[in-house]
Amino acid sequence: MKRLSGTEISKAIKEELKKEVSNLKTRGIHPKLAVILVGDDPASAIYVNSKKRTCEELGIGSLEKKMPAVTTQAELLSVVKALNRDPAVNGILCQVPLPGQCNEQEVIQTIDPEKDVDCFHPYNLGLLTAGIPKYMPCTPFGILQILKRSDCEISGKQVVVLGRSNIVGRPLSILMSLKAWNATVTVCHSRTRNLPEICATADILVVAMGRAKFVTAEFVKKGAVVIDVGTNRIADPAHPKGSRLVGDVDYEGIQGVAAAATPVPGGVGPMTIAMLMYNTINAARFQAGLDRFEL
Ligand SMILES: NC(=O)c1ccc[n+]([C@@H]2O[C@H](COP(=O)([O-])OP(=O)(O)OC[C@H]3O[C@@H](n4cnc5c(N)ncnc54)[C@H](OP(=O)(O)O)[C@@H]3O)[C@@H](O)[C@H]2O)c1
Repeated sequence: MKRLSGTEISKAIKEELKKEVSNLKTRGIHPKLAVILVGDDPASAIYVNSKKRTCEELGIGSLEKKMPAVTTQAELLSVVKALNRDPAVNGILCQVPLPGQCNEQEVIQTIDPEKDVDCFHPYNLGLLTAGIPKYMPCTPFGILQILKRSDCEISGKQVVVLGRSNIVGRPLSILMSLKAWNATVTVCHSRTRNLPEICATADILVVAMGRAKFVTAEFVKKGAVVIDVGTNRIADPAHPKGSRLVGDVDYEGIQGVAAAATPVPGGVGPMTIAMLMYNTINAARFQAGLDRFEL
């Protein structure tokens, strides 16, 4: 079974993006991402730091707005609105989950769609559904890049997407069904009957459910390509940290059945951040009146 390394593919993409950032800088365009972090959730702090580090690596400016856990919705919205107005900021994202008193949807809908580099705003999801995407949803587009750069043809293939979240499963299923990709897509979820049988019809199986090692060999057609989006932390006393990350797919169990699969960690995860950088660069380009930088 071929290992589809998102770590390697994202490195190559980041090199392309780094060149584009320096190209933009010679034209007086300095891409900048603002990240809002509310509260002190340790996992969120790790994500925000790695976004900041990747910005630095690529020469993208970054601005972190740290807000206390007691922040009110009104305070949060006023920070979003100030960033919307700041012409030096091209992209804005608000790290989730938010504390209980804050309304995530209202925050997403307050971000200027022109600066919505996460592609969570209904306006950008609408463009995508209409077949004219502006920003690309980060994890789904990262998956499409893994497939493209591993010479895995999508057109005409039977794709099963297991999971229908607004950030992964649904936008991915819509993108893949567009004329640009031409897949025949089935979306599965917790009410799907005969789940293993349906998954086993897939030439390309994408799993985004958040259930550790749920997908076993019986879900996989011989020769299929399997993309594992899941990131689940499980207890492991043998590990120095006492726990480790595993995917939604039993990677060892599908060896000899799948033709190729993404590992966890080192698969989809690193692609998501690279695509966030890609969207930030495009935000700077769009706001300067330029067209899309293609990957
Ligand atoms: N690597 C990355 O960059 C990245 C990015 C995003 C997410 N993730 C990871 O991907 C996983 C999924 O996250 P998400 O936000 O997309 O999903 P989510 O919002 O947690 O939704 C999970 C989806 O899986 C379905 N599901 C759950 N249990 C199921 C079962 N037993 N049988 C069939 N379907 C089931 C749910 O069905 P219903 O709709 O019926 O409830 C839902 O559609 C998580 O582990 C998350 O941490 C990773």
